[in-house]
Amino acid sequence: MPTTPTDHRLAALAPALESAGQAHLIPWCEGLEASARDRLLDQLAELDLPLLARLSGGGGDESAASGDLEPPETVDATDAAALERRAAGEAMLAAGKVAAFTVAGGQGTRLGWNGPKGTFPSTIVTGKPLFRVFAEQILATQDRFAPSEPIPWYVMTSPANDADTQAFFRDNNRFGLAPGQVFFLVQGTMPSVDFEGRVLLESPDSLCLNPDGHGGSLRALRRSGALEEMTARGIEQISYFQVDNPLVRILDPLFLGFHAADPRSSGEMSGKMVAKRDAGEKVGVFCRRGGRTTVVEYSDLPKELAEASDAQGRLRFRAGNIAVHAISVDFAMRLTEEGAEIGLPFHRAIKKVPHLDLATGAIVAPAEPNAIKFETFVFDAMPLAKRALVMETSRLEEFAPIKNATGEDSAESSRQAQSDRAASWLEARGVKVARHADGHAAARIEIEPRTALCAADLATRPLPDRIDPGSEVVI
Ligand code: UTP
Repeated sequence: MPTTPTDHRLAALAPALESAGQAHLIPWCEGLEASARDRLLDQLAELDLPLLARLSGGGGDESAASGDLEPPETVDATDAAALERRAAGEAMLAAGKVAAFTVAGGQGTRLGWNGPKGTFPSTIVTGKPLFRVFAEQILATQDRFAPSEPIPWYVMTSPANDADTQAFFRDNNRFGLAPGQVFFLVQGTMPSVDFEGRVLLESPDSLCLNPDGHGGSLRALRRSGALEEMTARGIEQISYFQVDNPLVRILDPLFLGFHAADPRSSGEMSGKMVAKRDAGEKVGVFCRRGGRTTVVEYSDLPKELAEASDAQGRLRFRAGNIAVHAISVDFAMRLTEEGAEIGLPFHRAIKKVPHLDLATGAIVAPAEPNAIKFETFVFDAMPLAKRALVMETSRLEEFAPIKNATGEDSAESSRQAQSDRAASWLEARGVKVARHADGHAAARIEIEPRTALCAADLATRPLPDRIDPGSEVVI
């Protein structure tokens, strides 16, 4: 019979734990001393146990959808409407209708950097951390369009990296941004489970929790009050981007204009694409399915579709998703409406998760994947928009993510891409830049965001005549 309040809490929760397949936790809780048991019960009480039972019940990936896939329609800078759209985007920025939003709550396990990924030294010469690169773009954009208030920047963190992220901004004096210009919001978490669907513990009194995916960003914007605050400030559109791409063009007027002012868009949610490097590149692709724009993950795209070509001999499904979106505040509100929340589907990822072995009480560091993590993805909101627009841009200009410690999509490949882009901007202004035989820039060249956000911005700058092989240049 329960005798203490802690016993009562456990007794009250036990039936729900049992019916959600989590009965293994009951004897474990019983064996804990009262304060540890209370801490664990606090976490367990927060879980959506019916959801967990559904996800772990072997029902497969909630995201698996069927229907014929077609390539999407796309727009780009050569579109007849581009000039007008850019002007519309510029007007939105000048009127203070756009906020920047970075999702920075990921665990960054592939990179293996000891700290939030946004603190990673990313640029080729000065080693600026990713957060500084974005801050300087925001400052350059507001210098140019002079909105009456500073452009707000929302940064989503996770419970694991929030304190370190906020401390980094403080220690760096917010990279010159105004007090009150940067807002932090913490995303939600999901428990990691073993292959039988049992939640894992990371210590005797706490669960293994992982951030609930970048799809959790819409909910986090809502719960934190950010959406209401944006509405109160007159913000209509959110410029969404990930923390790992130093070439990203945030607050891009052309994209914002197409998104908000083009009849092919409902102004709810748009995405940017680059042509896939090859059929095997690990990026999701934008597709049309059932009259809706959607993104299919690389692992879900059947091989024959991934490798199919179109009439011009290009990949038929070439619209690689670079995770840059424009999202209206109204759309984010609609999807997260209290009581009628339109949940994004959960995807399952099989991972190695260190955990406590309940039989021995020892921490196990698995050599092989042992657990399932559940995450939602922001691109699953695309088909929920009335008409979602996809804009094509160039990889050289806008996409060189830092995902891995070495090889493809690493800091090294990203830094080379930064130099290559800088070289092409300089060459467009008549500078002679040394190149290797394989076409890559043969010098380390960094163009700072406050100098230029695009090639055209270099028009009025004094530039060197030439850049020699092996040299190091900051412009
Ligand atoms: P990734 O898919 O690259 O995941 O995130 P990750 O967690 O950063 O890295 P790995 O897979 O462990 O190596 C893409 C973007 O989405 C953000 C990341 O911070 C990154 O900007 N993200 C991801 C979140 O904000 N929250 C999440 O739960 C997951």
